[in-house]
Amino acid sequence: MYSVCLKSPRTIVRDLEERELPRLLAWYNDAERFGYATGLDSPVSHEYLAEMYKKTASSDTEILAGIYTACNGTLVGVLKGRLITEGAPCVWISLLAIDPGCRGRGYARDAVGLLLTHLKEQCGIERAYLAIAEENQGALAFWSKLGFAEIRRMKTGLVLYGKPVRAVIMGKRIEA
Ligand SMILES: CC(C)(COP(=O)(O)OP(=O)(O)OC[C@H]1O[C@@H](n2cnc3c(N)ncnc32)[C@H](O)[C@@H]1OP(=O)(O)O)[C@@H](O)C(=O)NCCC(=O)NCCS
Repeated sequence: MYSVCLKSPRTIVRDLEERELPRLLAWYNDAERFGYATGLDSPVSHEYLAEMYKKTASSDTEILAGIYTACNGTLVGVLKGRLITEGAPCVWISLLAIDPGCRGRGYARDAVGLLLTHLKEQCGIERAYLAIAEENQGALAFWSKLGFAEIRRMKTGLVLYGKPVRAVIMGKRIEA
Protein backbone atom coordinates (compact mmCIF):
# COMPACT_ATOMS: atom_id res chain seq x y z
CA MET A 1 0.00 0.00 0.00
CA TYR A 2 1.19 3.52 -0.67
CA SER A 3 1.27 4.61 2.95
CA VAL A 4 -0.13 7.94 4.12
CA CYS A 5 -0.45 9.65 7.48
CA LEU A 6 -1.68 13.22 6.97
CA LYS A 7 -3.29 15.70 9.31
CA SER A 8 -5.17 19.00 9.22
CA PRO A 9 -6.73 20.70 12.26
CA ARG A 10 -10.04 18.87 11.55
CA THR A 11 -9.11 15.71 9.67
CA ILE A 12 -6.67 12.81 9.65
CA VAL A 13 -6.04 10.64 6.60
CA ARG A 14 -4.11 7.44 7.23
CA ASP A 15 -3.86 3.86 5.98
CA LEU A 16 -7.02 1.90 6.70
CA GLU A 17 -6.30 -1.04 8.96
CA GLU A 18 -7.59 -4.53 8.23
CA ARG A 19 -9.48 -4.60 11.54
CA GLU A 20 -11.53 -1.63 10.24
CA LEU A 21 -12.95 -3.59 7.29
CA PRO A 22 -16.33 -4.23 9.02
CA ARG A 23 -16.99 -0.48 8.93
CA LEU A 24 -16.07 -0.36 5.26
CA LEU A 25 -18.34 -3.34 4.66
CA ALA A 26 -21.27 -1.48 6.22
CA TRP A 27 -20.71 1.46 3.83
CA TYR A 28 -20.29 -0.80 0.79
CA ASN A 29 -23.53 -2.55 1.67
CA ASP A 30 -25.51 0.66 2.17
CA ALA A 31 -26.29 0.72 -1.56
CA GLU A 32 -28.90 3.45 -1.19
CA ARG A 33 -26.39 6.01 0.05
CA PHE A 34 -23.12 4.64 -1.38
CA GLY A 35 -24.06 2.66 -4.51
CA TYR A 36 -22.86 5.28 -6.96
CA ALA A 37 -19.57 5.63 -5.11
CA THR A 38 -18.75 1.92 -4.94
CA GLY A 39 -20.29 0.98 -8.31
CA LEU A 40 -22.18 -1.81 -6.54
CA ASP A 41 -25.90 -2.08 -5.88
CA SER A 42 -25.88 -5.52 -4.28
CA PRO A 43 -24.21 -6.67 -1.06
CA VAL A 44 -20.57 -7.76 -0.95
CA SER A 45 -19.08 -10.17 1.56
CA HIS A 46 -16.35 -9.59 4.12
CA GLU A 47 -14.21 -11.98 2.05
CA TYR A 48 -14.64 -9.76 -1.04
CA LEU A 49 -13.33 -6.73 0.86
CA ALA A 50 -10.59 -8.76 2.57
CA GLU A 51 -9.35 -9.86 -0.88
CA MET A 52 -9.43 -6.26 -2.12
CA TYR A 53 -7.53 -5.21 1.01
CA LYS A 54 -4.89 -7.91 0.47
CA LYS A 55 -4.30 -6.81 -3.15
CA THR A 56 -4.10 -3.17 -2.08
CA ALA A 57 -1.74 -3.93 0.79
CA SER A 58 0.66 -5.78 -1.48
CA SER A 59 0.89 -2.92 -4.00
CA ASP A 60 3.25 0.09 -3.79
CA THR A 61 0.89 2.37 -5.64
CA GLU A 62 -2.58 1.62 -4.26
CA ILE A 63 -3.91 4.02 -1.63
CA LEU A 64 -6.60 2.91 0.82
CA ALA A 65 -6.99 5.45 3.58
CA GLY A 66 -9.45 6.00 6.36
CA ILE A 67 -10.67 9.53 7.03
CA TYR A 68 -10.79 10.30 10.76
CA THR A 69 -11.77 13.22 12.93
CA ALA A 70 -8.69 14.95 14.34
CA CYS A 71 -10.52 15.63 17.62
CA ASN A 72 -11.08 12.00 18.66
CA GLY A 73 -9.93 9.75 15.83
CA THR A 74 -13.39 8.50 14.81
CA LEU A 75 -13.43 6.83 11.39
CA VAL A 76 -15.81 8.91 9.25
CA GLY A 77 -14.94 7.98 5.69
CA VAL A 78 -12.71 6.29 3.15
CA LEU A 79 -10.49 7.45 0.31
CA LYS A 80 -9.12 5.02 -2.27
CA GLY A 81 -6.89 5.70 -5.23
CA ARG A 82 -3.93 4.70 -7.34
CA LEU A 83 -0.71 6.56 -7.90
CA ILE A 84 0.47 6.37 -11.51
CA THR A 85 4.15 7.08 -11.96
CA GLU A 86 4.70 6.12 -15.61
CA GLY A 87 4.68 9.21 -17.84
CA ALA A 88 3.41 12.36 -16.17
CA PRO A 89 2.76 11.33 -12.54
CA CYS A 90 -0.89 11.50 -11.54
CA VAL A 91 -3.42 9.97 -9.17
CA TRP A 92 -6.75 8.30 -9.95
CA ILE A 93 -9.24 8.58 -7.12
CA SER A 94 -11.51 5.54 -7.23
CA LEU A 95 -13.57 5.98 -4.07
CA LEU A 96 -14.40 8.78 -1.68
CA ALA A 97 -17.19 8.31 0.81
CA ILE A 98 -18.15 9.98 4.07
CA ASP A 99 -20.53 8.45 6.59
CA PRO A 100 -23.97 10.04 6.04
CA GLY A 101 -24.06 11.36 9.62
CA CYS A 102 -20.78 13.26 9.10
CA ARG A 103 -21.34 14.85 5.68
CA GLY A 104 -21.27 18.60 5.14
CA ARG A 105 -18.55 19.19 7.74
CA GLY A 106 -15.60 19.53 5.37
CA TYR A 107 -14.04 16.09 5.97
CA ALA A 108 -14.07 15.14 2.28
CA ARG A 109 -12.64 18.49 1.19
CA ASP A 110 -9.89 18.22 3.82
CA ALA A 111 -9.05 14.61 2.96
CA VAL A 112 -8.73 15.27 -0.77
CA GLY A 113 -6.71 18.44 -0.14
CA LEU A 114 -4.34 16.64 2.22
CA LEU A 115 -3.79 13.74 -0.17
CA LEU A 116 -3.25 15.86 -3.30
CA THR A 117 -0.85 18.23 -1.54
CA HIS A 118 1.12 15.28 -0.17
CA LEU A 119 1.30 13.53 -3.56
CA LYS A 120 2.36 16.78 -5.24
CA GLU A 121 5.16 17.30 -2.72
CA GLN A 122 6.34 13.69 -2.45
CA CYS A 123 5.70 12.27 -5.93
CA GLY A 124 5.37 15.34 -8.13
CA ILE A 125 1.90 14.46 -9.39
CA GLU A 126 0.66 16.91 -11.99
CA ARG A 127 -2.97 15.89 -12.22
CA ALA A 128 -5.74 14.05 -10.38
CA TYR A 129 -8.54 12.18 -12.13
CA LEU A 130 -11.71 10.37 -11.18
CA ALA A 131 -14.82 8.88 -12.74
CA ILE A 132 -18.26 9.30 -11.26
CA ALA A 133 -21.70 8.13 -12.31
CA GLU A 134 -23.54 10.74 -14.35
CA GLU A 135 -26.54 10.43 -11.98
CA ASN A 136 -24.43 11.26 -8.92
CA GLN A 137 -25.28 14.97 -8.95
CA GLY A 138 -24.11 15.49 -5.36
CA ALA A 139 -20.65 14.15 -6.18
CA LEU A 140 -20.51 16.24 -9.38
CA ALA A 141 -21.25 19.34 -7.31
CA PHE A 142 -18.67 18.33 -4.69
CA TRP A 143 -15.82 17.68 -7.17
CA SER A 144 -16.65 20.87 -9.09
CA LYS A 145 -16.36 22.80 -5.81
CA LEU A 146 -12.89 21.32 -5.39
CA GLY A 147 -11.84 22.62 -8.81
CA PHE A 148 -12.29 19.43 -10.85
CA ALA A 149 -13.65 19.89 -14.37
CA GLU A 150 -15.35 17.47 -16.71
CA ILE A 151 -13.07 15.92 -19.33
CA ARG A 152 -15.51 13.61 -21.08
CA ARG A 153 -18.48 11.25 -20.60
CA MET A 154 -18.44 7.58 -21.47
CA LYS A 155 -20.30 4.28 -21.15
CA THR A 156 -19.06 2.03 -18.33
CA GLY A 157 -20.74 -1.31 -18.94
CA LEU A 158 -21.95 -1.13 -15.31
CA VAL A 159 -25.65 -1.39 -14.45
CA LEU A 160 -26.80 0.30 -11.24
CA TYR A 161 -30.35 0.33 -9.93
CA GLY A 162 -31.44 -1.31 -13.21
CA LYS A 163 -29.98 1.39 -15.45
CA PRO A 164 -26.76 1.43 -17.50
CA VAL A 165 -24.29 3.82 -15.93
CA ARG A 166 -22.53 6.52 -17.89
CA ALA A 167 -19.45 7.97 -16.24
CA VAL A 168 -18.23 11.54 -16.07
CA ILE A 169 -14.43 11.69 -16.13
CA MET A 170 -13.18 14.70 -14.19
CA GLY A 171 -9.68 16.04 -13.71
CA LYS A 172 -7.72 18.79 -12.06
CA ARG A 173 -4.20 20.17 -12.46
CA ILE A 174 -2.39 20.11 -9.11
CA GLU A 175 -0.54 23.36 -8.55
CA ALA A 176 2.63 23.51 -6.44
C1 LIG B 1 -19.61 13.50 -1.95
C2 LIG B 1 -19.19 13.37 -0.48
C3 LIG B 1 -17.88 12.56 -0.42
C4 LIG B 1 -18.95 14.79 0.10
O1 LIG B 1 -18.48 14.65 1.43
P1 LIG B 1 -18.66 15.83 2.52
O2 LIG B 1 -17.70 15.57 3.64
O3 LIG B 1 -20.09 16.00 2.84
O4 LIG B 1 -18.16 17.11 1.69
P2 LIG B 1 -17.59 18.47 2.32
O5 LIG B 1 -18.32 18.76 3.58
O6 LIG B 1 -16.09 18.37 2.41
O7 LIG B 1 -18.03 19.50 1.22
C5 LIG B 1 -17.11 20.28 0.44
C6 LIG B 1 -17.91 21.20 -0.45
O8 LIG B 1 -18.70 20.42 -1.37
C7 LIG B 1 -20.08 20.78 -1.23
N1 LIG B 1 -20.88 19.57 -1.33
C8 LIG B 1 -20.68 18.39 -0.68
N2 LIG B 1 -21.66 17.51 -0.99
C9 LIG B 1 -22.50 18.18 -1.82
C10 LIG B 1 -23.73 17.82 -2.44
N3 LIG B 1 -24.27 16.60 -2.26
N4 LIG B 1 -24.34 18.74 -3.24
C11 LIG B 1 -23.79 19.97 -3.41
N5 LIG B 1 -22.63 20.37 -2.84
C12 LIG B 1 -22.01 19.48 -2.05
C13 LIG B 1 -20.21 21.35 0.16
O9 LIG B 1 -21.31 22.24 0.23
C14 LIG B 1 -18.89 22.05 0.33
O10 LIG B 1 -18.90 23.32 -0.30
P3 LIG B 1 -18.43 24.62 0.52
O11 LIG B 1 -17.04 24.30 1.03
O12 LIG B 1 -18.50 25.70 -0.49
O13 LIG B 1 -19.42 24.74 1.63
C15 LIG B 1 -20.29 12.67 0.39
O14 LIG B 1 -21.51 13.32 0.16
C16 LIG B 1 -20.47 11.19 0.11
O15 LIG B 1 -19.83 10.36 0.76
N6 LIG B 1 -21.36 10.82 -0.84
C17 LIG B 1 -21.64 9.41 -1.14
C18 LIG B 1 -20.50 8.75 -1.84
C19 LIG B 1 -20.17 9.41 -3.17
O16 LIG B 1 -21.04 9.65 -3.99
N7 LIG B 1 -18.86 9.72 -3.35
C20 LIG B 1 -18.37 10.41 -4.55
C21 LIG B 1 -18.02 9.52 -5.65
S1 LIG B 1 -16.43 8.72 -5.45
